[in-house]
Amino acid sequence: LKTNHDLNTPIYIEDHDLKTLLEIFKKHVQVRRLFILADAQVASLHQVAVEEVLKNDYQLNWITIPSGETSKNIERYTQIVNVLLEFPIYKDDVIVAFGGGVTGDLAGYIASTILRGVRFIQIPTTLLSMIDSSIGGKVGINMQAGKNLVGAFIEPLFIYSYLPFLKTLPKRELHQGFAEMLKAALIRDEVLFDLMKSSETFCLNWMERAIRVKTSIVKEDPFEHHTRMLLNFGHTLGHAIESQHYEEGMLHGEAVSHGMMFALKVSQTFKGFKKHDIESIQAILQRYQLLSKSIQPYEVYIKKVIHDKKMRQDGIRFIVLKSIGEASIETLSLEQLYGI
Ligand SMILES: NC(=O)c1ccc[n+]([C@@H]2O[C@H](COP(=O)([O-])OP(=O)(O)OC[C@H]3O[C@@H](n4cnc5c(N)ncnc54)[C@H](O)[C@@H]3O)[C@@H](O)[C@H]2O)c1
Repeated sequence: LKTNHDLNTPIYIEDHDLKTLLEIFKKHVQVRRLFILADAQVASLHQVAVEEVLKNDYQLNWITIPSGETSKNIERYTQIVNVLLEFPIYKDDVIVAFGGGVTGDLAGYIASTILRGVRFIQIPTTLLSMIDSSIGGKVGINMQAGKNLVGAFIEPLFIYSYLPFLKTLPKRELHQGFAEMLKAALIRDEVLFDLMKSSETFCLNWMERAIRVKTSIVKEDPFEHHTRMLLNFGHTLGHAIESQHYEEGMLHGEAVSHGMMFALKVSQTFKGFKKHDIESIQAILQRYQLLSKSIQPYEVYIKKVIHDKKMRQDGIRFIVLKSIGEASIETLSLEQLYGI
């Protein structure tokens, strides 16, 4: 099923029949040869199923990427680019990302740079990548100085999300996707928030609404000059929390959830955001065990925020909420943040 949204990229969500993947490939891809860059864990679970569907019509070349954030680095980039060039890959070839956000970002960066760009397809396999990272064209890798510091924009031919892939996703990873889904609701979709508040059962409608939030924001500001920053809600402090607790195994979505709680307190102080809404949000985050890892007092992380790329001379660009679904970008001084 094709979702309705604001961008040109077709986004397909399939909930039970993987065979539709072949029809969609045939519609968009006329060459026979595909390079599939796949997360190793995802390949071990789902390569056979994809192979079965595509093998009669396409020649598939699988390249696996070790699972985990550390694969999004320049060494892995160089290694895969060299493998592809040796093959050799041609300008009219197509690169397919098959995995979560790590695979999508790395494969997309390779696709956007190799031979100055070849065509690209996303088959996201985590909830986070289905509703967020595969959409909007941002791709990139991490550098020593920080995450996602080198990258590009590339529009995929299409994005295809097959929901049964989520059945093998570890629960903690699935829950990270809910953190980003809740973020989408908080910045732009009160209806999605009400749906998430009133039911615990995930449904397609939640996903479609979260996708529409992302696509509408990207449409307004594709290159992140202004509105797209709203997607950083909870991420300013979240990144500082993540880097502090990464070694202890805290996940990105868990750090961002704490970051969102802080951003809500800031919103309460400066925008009159309602306390009882904060409590409902906290309850949703707790439902997905997103706040179960404890953190230190906020001041500890605010200090680290100085290094954040959203820091300007007059203060920090911070995303706040006036009410659910109504977000804005404010410049706040560190003193103001310390006071929270
Ligand atoms: N480009 C963007 O706009 C954007 C936006 C948000 C996040 N990101 C990036 O996305 C990355 C995080 O993405 P992620 O959360 O998808 O993480 P991920 O790609 O690391 O996947 C999480 C884990 O789940 C496993 N996995 C994936 N799909 C599976 C499946 N179906 N069954 C079983 N296991 C599966 C992977 O092997 C991995 O261990 C970060 O690098 C972040 O910077 C990019």
